[in-house]
Amino acid sequence: MIGLVKITMVKDTKVVSFINYKGGVGKTTLAVEISASLAKKGKDVLLIDLDPQTNATFYLMEEKDWNDWQENKGSLKDLFEAFMDGKSFDINKAINKDLNCSKYIPKLHLLPSHLELLFIDLELASKFGAKGMKSKSILRSALSKIKENYDYIIFDCPPNLNLVTQNSIVASNSIIIVAMPEYLSTIGIALIDRAIKNIEKEINDEIKSFGVVGTFKGPEIKGILFNRVRYVTGGTGYQEEVMERVRVDWSHLVFNTYVSQSDRIAQRGESKIPIAISGYAADKKYESQLRECAEEFLRRV
Ligand SMILES: Nc1ncnc2c1ncn2[C@@H]1O[C@H](COP(=O)(O)OP(=O)(O)OP(=O)(O)O)[C@@H](O)[C@H]1O
Ligand SMILES: [Mg+2]
Repeated sequence: MIGLVKITMVKDTKVVSFINYKGGVGKTTLAVEISASLAKKGKDVLLIDLDPQTNATFYLMEEKDWNDWQENKGSLKDLFEAFMDGKSFDINKAINKDLNCSKYIPKLHLLPSHLELLFIDLELASKFGAKGMKSKSILRSALSKIKENYDYIIFDCPPNLNLVTQNSIVASNSIIIVAMPEYLSTIGIALIDRAIKNIEKEINDEIKSFGVVGTFKGPEIKGILFNRVRYVTGGTGYQEEVMERVRVDWSHLVFNTYVSQSDRIAQRGESKIPIAISGYAADKKYESQLRECAEEFLRRV
């Protein structure tokens, strides 16, 4: 008799942080839209909102639904609080799989944020100290329970490099830096690179001090994606100059694709349906830009 052999396919999950500690550059917009584009392509995607501003959350959920959700199912804030209190947390229960856009892209799931996540950085630092693995590997270990359900886990980071963002760095394999073609939005690229290396060193020093064999490998910056680009027809313009400077320093990292400045994109959050799947004729240009960005994201990450 021939026995049945059960073959289990384990997903090679890519965990990616959308980062720039400069605010308002489009981290949330592109984390949500690229997540939606990937889900539209049939990928299983979990978007995690790490920002107490809860912008990614409200891009995809009505405020009243969020209120019920965080009260009954939990949010990212509860994950960190449970860890600090030494309690268990059901991360799967807190993931919203029934979003307004789920009828079009059921493969996009969201772990919502909470305004009180604002206090978590301070609480983590006062409880475990600002340095060391304990306060920085909480997300990484929480994700190990659900990681294999997803092809991509995408973090929408807040505009800082505090402990919650450092948790996302420790949990990620890859980093995408979202930038606007403006001086102030690009000067931080080198600092993010340095921050990743510092965290890697800090954790490896700690591992070594425990006498444990092995090393921790931090995430790699896999791309710099420009948003809110206003091309001047036939000319170069200031934005082109800034992008050129970034290409000189980080040539292999700059996305060939970019996202244009557009009111259609700015208005998107209100409808709870990402532009990447809206299907409106007026969104076509941006839908195709976002699709191209998502395709380049797949090649880079
Ligand atoms: N391509 C675009 N064209 C026009 N407006 C845009 C575009 N991308 C983002 N915006 C708008 O710019 C603002 C900032 O975008 P977003 O919230 O995505 O940035 P962020 O980097 O996540 O900000 P924060 O640092 O506060 O988290 C929002 O009002 C958003 O709607
Ligand atoms: Mg944001």
